[in-house]
Amino acid sequence: MSRFAKGCAIGFAFFSMSQAAHGADISKADLRAKYNVVKGKEIYERVCSTCHSSGVMDAPKFCDLSDWKPRMVHGMEHLINHAVGGFNNMPAKGGMESLTVGESSDAVAYMVDQCLVEPK
Ligand code: HEC
Repeated sequence: MSRFAKGCAIGFAFFSMSQAAHGADISKADLRAKYNVVKGKEIYERVCSTCHSSGVMDAPKFCDLSDWKPRMVHGMEHLINHAVGGFNNMPAKGGMESLTVGESSDAVAYMVDQCLVEPK
């Protein structure tokens, strides 16, 4: 292996490790490749904003970083599991049983994409 390739491999391994250590290091590009944030916006506005725009019942408010950041540390999968399966006062799928797992995930991705990734 050339010196250059070795350096790249070590650099890459280090990069991957630091990514794994910070579950919240999600890029917008990753989110948008994996989820439909446009559809997520529509679902958020129709279903989730009822609680998340005002923060009723202690729902984490849209874009309130002090409330969302400690949750984000656990990563997208964790948030999606809670959104789909319910969590304390958070009803499963926001109480809209007809939502698919994909649609619920898109809504979570929209919230994260808008507020938590690369804050302005
Ligand atoms: C009836 C009110 C209500 C609606 C509607 C609602 N939520 Fe929530 N949500 C909550 C509350 C309350 C919490 C805080 C739960 C806790 O941390 O104890 C929460 C927490 C969350 C969390 C964070 C979970 C975690 O792991 O900390 C996510 C993600 C979430 N909601 C997504 C959604 C999505 C997506 C929708 C729409 C499909 C939605 N919510 C609709 C009340 C609601």
